[in-house]
Amino acid sequence: MIIRPIQKSKIESVDFDNLSFGTIFSDYMFVCDYADGAWGEPEIIPYAPIQLDPSASALHYGQAIFEGMKAYKDDHGDVWLFRPDQNIKRLNKSAERLAIPQFPEDLFQEGLHKLIDLDRDWIQSGIGNSLYIRPFMFASEACVQASPAKEYRIMIICAPVSSYYNSGEVRVKIADHFSRAPQGGTGYAKAAGNYAGQFYPTQLAIDEGYQQIIWTDAATHQYIEEAGTMNLFFYIGDKLITAPTSDSILDGVTRKSLIEIAKDHGIEVETRQLSVSELVEASKNNSLKEIFGSGTAVVVLPIHGFGYKGENFQLPKSEDSLALRLRSDLTSIQYNRTDDPYGWRVKV
Ligand code: COI
Repeated sequence: MIIRPIQKSKIESVDFDNLSFGTIFSDYMFVCDYADGAWGEPEIIPYAPIQLDPSASALHYGQAIFEGMKAYKDDHGDVWLFRPDQNIKRLNKSAERLAIPQFPEDLFQEGLHKLIDLDRDWIQSGIGNSLYIRPFMFASEACVQASPAKEYRIMIICAPVSSYYNSGEVRVKIADHFSRAPQGGTGYAKAAGNYAGQFYPTQLAIDEGYQQIIWTDAATHQYIEEAGTMNLFFYIGDKLITAPTSDSILDGVTRKSLIEIAKDHGIEVETRQLSVSELVEASKNNSLKEIFGSGTAVVVLPIHGFGYKGENFQLPKSEDSLALRLRSDLTSIQYNRTDDPYGWRVKV
């Protein structure tokens, strides 16, 4: 692996107390190109704009996928990744669906560790602070034929972050018209286009006073899927319900970690389809206690209300919510403040 050192770090110009998510990037980036049927030699080089031919296939047909992960610094200054094996596995799953070549897992881990090691000063300690890591792959071949490209690039870039969403009440709209992902589509992949397709309906929902959309199944709009940047959990009665992963739902690393933690705390977790009518009924009969989203960027995000077909529903207020307890359990593992019985933490 080639490493080209920076001349001078940019870190002194960064205001770590006022970070806007994903707008400031660290000193280094990882790059590797695919051509003639093989990946070339990976490089870690100073973060900088890249050159791309205007006919680069990704710009035309959206052969582009990404991942989201984080590096954390504990109170002793040690740096940790959280389940990085899951991210490269999912990146390759997404790659398969988008007809992008597989990237070797060992090369990914080696590059990731070297990159984070070089950028370790960019990670602030303290719960909530982290280095958001964005691996991505795209078709770089200069060609507008509507067929899989023959050249690709994988990159990893890093952004120091605090929290993803501003605090305040989060209200979501349940989709009854637009869809995120059909059965048989790319919903389970972290395909760039899955996100592009959400922006317009989400903007309409924002104009109505919501922050995000809860997507429902594309065929009937009866069953709850995910929120686009988050998987979803519903605490109804004494059960925690989350949709099963499927063709159209992202297999979230935070989601599956929370399921394990909740089960180990004796909480009954049901991984099953939840219909909108069951949710509305639970809200009306007061058995709905909490809704929260989960994701690498948001960690765990409590939702305070939802709207469906013009009607608004408010969640009960709770001082000691399950969402916040699960968030605290998860972040304690991520920031090395507690034992990690699951073996999820990986030292850099
Ligand atoms: C993540 O949690 O890493 C995501 O994928 C959300 C991202 C679109 C900001």
